[in-house]
Amino acid sequence: MDPNASGLAKRLAEAGQSHLLQFWKELSPEQQSDLTLDMQGMDFQEINGFFEKAGETSSGVSKQDARMEPVPRDVLGSVTRDRDSLKDWEEAGLHCISHSKVAALLLAGGQGTRLGVSYPKGMYDVGLPSHKTLFQIQAERILKLQQLAEQKHKIKCCLPWYIMTSGRTMESTKDYFSRHNYFGLDKNNIIFFQQGMLPAMDYKGKIILENKGKLCMAPDGNGGLYRALGTQGIMEDMERRGVEFIHVYCVDNILVKVADPSFVGFCVKKGADCGAKVVEKTNPTEAVGVVCKVDGLYRVVEYSEITLATAEKRSADGRLMFNAANVANHFFSFSFLRDVVRKYEPELQHHVAQKKIPHVNPEGQQITPDKPNGIKMEKFVFDIFQFAKTFVVYEVLREDEFAPLKNADSQDAKDTPTTARHALMSLHHRWVLNAGGHFIDENGRHVPAIPRDGAAGRFTDDGNRNLKDGTDLPIKCEISPLVSYGGEGLEELVKGREFHPTLTIDGNGVHELVKNGV
Ligand code: UD1
Repeated sequence: MDPNASGLAKRLAEAGQSHLLQFWKELSPEQQSDLTLDMQGMDFQEINGFFEKAGETSSGVSKQDARMEPVPRDVLGSVTRDRDSLKDWEEAGLHCISHSKVAALLLAGGQGTRLGVSYPKGMYDVGLPSHKTLFQIQAERILKLQQLAEQKHKIKCCLPWYIMTSGRTMESTKDYFSRHNYFGLDKNNIIFFQQGMLPAMDYKGKIILENKGKLCMAPDGNGGLYRALGTQGIMEDMERRGVEFIHVYCVDNILVKVADPSFVGFCVKKGADCGAKVVEKTNPTEAVGVVCKVDGLYRVVEYSEITLATAEKRSADGRLMFNAANVANHFFSFSFLRDVVRKYEPELQHHVAQKKIPHVNPEGQQITPDKPNGIKMEKFVFDIFQFAKTFVVYEVLREDEFAPLKNADSQDAKDTPTTARHALMSLHHRWVLNAGGHFIDENGRHVPAIPRDGAAGRFTDDGNRNLKDGTDLPIKCEISPLVSYGGEGLEELVKGREFHPTLTIDGNGVHELVKNGV
């Protein structure tokens, strides 16, 4: 369709984006219709407005540093300091789950650029003995949690799973779940929805053309969630199901306790409308955001938005002053989320990331830049903390709950398939020990719970694992989430028994695969 006749050319001209049609005449009819389709639904004035606002906020980062304060103790719950309350919190959470008041919401619209795979990150197999993917592990945790809640409260329950994808990941994600029969979950309780996309722009606010017939588009950040919840009818779906509490989490953490009853119960008992799970940050340069207050309001300050000087500040006890590392696990009450979607979403500012963006230049040449040439704009999921009336923070142990998969394996890389796999196996090793089982090595000796000092598998200062010497890798042990959600129910299977690794425990029982080289 002719862009003049359709009004597209006029809309572009009014927004100062006419260059997008520069190569129109060189395009085939198919390319022309694809480009028209891409631009049809776009509000160029709104996008220009985002660009202007993003510019204003990104220049204020260093000033923000001076206004940061750590999380006050009175909003903090901790799995170590508040041991006496843990059981109560867990029971409260399970009670809510059993009454089908809790939903899990997975943010899976990212592009996995750092990991370097062309498919959704949730489909990644980190090389566990079972070769389960992140999606499968999470699905099985939900199944198990439903069972635990049902057994305890003797009522049938449902824990709906909302999965946010993007234009890039929707089809492959849906197809993957369907091919695997939804991993045993009821497909009616898995709700896929799609976040929006935004164009990349150059420093003057011109939308970048990836090639002559295609705009350079990227998902609008995990904070695109709030707009998508409104536009895709998800809030109505939650309301219809009677969902009151929502656990929002990221796809990449292999240890994630999906819909964690203790976290949910803690938030509910504290009367919170919004909560964040954290682990202690010990290395100033670790790539995690920190939960804190800025100008008296709760915020996460991202690793890309804090100065080194502030990240390195220490308190009197020697710990980092801003040590509440965001593990991207959030709790929202339904009513809070509804207010955000209805009222606050338009107030959320975009964060700006400077990127090297391959593009076609005005002379029609394809360029791969070697330094940043433009920006991508993203909203962040935690930017709604500032609107909470009662905000709480829940501190958990890194080794039990946080091992994200960000990068591909390589010599010095952090947060890799190897570190994720080892973290899971090491946790499961500890579950077996706690339940009264033991591992024996090839010489018939008990393997210690914590590897020898300095040996592989221990946590190092930066919160990653020391795998460098490679001589003392974690015990190969994997327990299916269908058998145990958080280490419970293992005594009857392992108590008083000795095992040779590799040990796997699944719905069919306990298996030892001696020297299988996995
Ligand atoms: C994220 C957190 C950071 C935290 C860290 C812990 C955000 C903005 N930052 O950082 O504070 O310390 O995890 O591992 O949450 N996603 C979408 N749509 C998008 C972009 C991302 O759904 O447009 C999803 C991804 O699929 C992923 C999650 O958001 O599940 C986090 O994205 P990622 O880019 O990996 O965040 P980090 O920068 O690692």
